[in-house]
Amino acid sequence: MKRIKLPAHIAIIMDGNGRWAKRRFRPRAYGHRMGVQNMFKICGHAFNLGVRIVTVFALSAENLSRPKEEVDELFELFRSYFSKKKERMYELNVKICVLGDISVLPADIQESIGEIERATAHLTSGLLNICVNYGARQEVVRAVNKAVALGRFVDENSLESLFYTGGLPDPDLIIRTGGEIRLSNFLLYQAAYSELYFSGKMWPEFSKRDLEKAIENYSARDRRYGNVREE
Ligand code: IPE
Ligand code: IPE
Ligand code: MG
Repeated sequence: MKRIKLPAHIAIIMDGNGRWAKRRFRPRAYGHRMGVQNMFKICGHAFNLGVRIVTVFALSAENLSRPKEEVDELFELFRSYFSKKKERMYELNVKICVLGDISVLPADIQESIGEIERATAHLTSGLLNICVNYGARQEVVRAVNKAVALGRFVDENSLESLFYTGGLPDPDLIIRTGGEIRLSNFLLYQAAYSELYFSGKMWPEFSKRDLEKAIENYSARDRRYGNVREE
């Protein structure tokens, strides 16, 4: 990869698993399984390139309204990676945090998530946030209610500190695969000045080279934050 300006924090909307599978005459669940495998590959590559934080959208709050069969298959996949194959998670050698309301997940998965978070808490070469049953609007409402419970008015800093992403820098680059040009309730507040990159590739086929292209594209952008640039 050329000499480039690396984003410190990349967020990824991993979309297109179902369509990728359908095009191969396979069930949607197969797409999700391949999607999880690709998540390890792409996140691992991002950390190898020197990215410090990767935040992936694994399951939105709204996704729980999908047919029960698909939701159960997704839970089974989480069970597999958070419980049975959690060593795969440890292989990334980065701290893992799960963001979102996990209280609706089966108890064994919740326990495994706690275990993974504790087991990786000391790792400092990178941070992988996995958003599960996450919704940006729900996150804002939750934060406001926390502030109300504390009897406090908020400013930007104190509100942000109450988000799931509290204490983290905003994503520099948000990548969405799958061809849709929207955020689908992902990190809406934190995305205020994020650079957005949309790929027509379905998530399971999004390659390491595709990630590098997204980063190169980001690197060439001029982030002005509402200001003017010195000539
Ligand atoms: C993204 O893939 C993964 C989840 C939402 C869980 P989709 O399941 O949305 O795949 P498409 O968009 O239907 O192809
Ligand atoms: C966004 O994809 C959620 C995840 C990738 C986890 P969706 O497939 O749910 O988004 P929409 O329905 O196309 O907006
Ligand atoms: Mg989708």
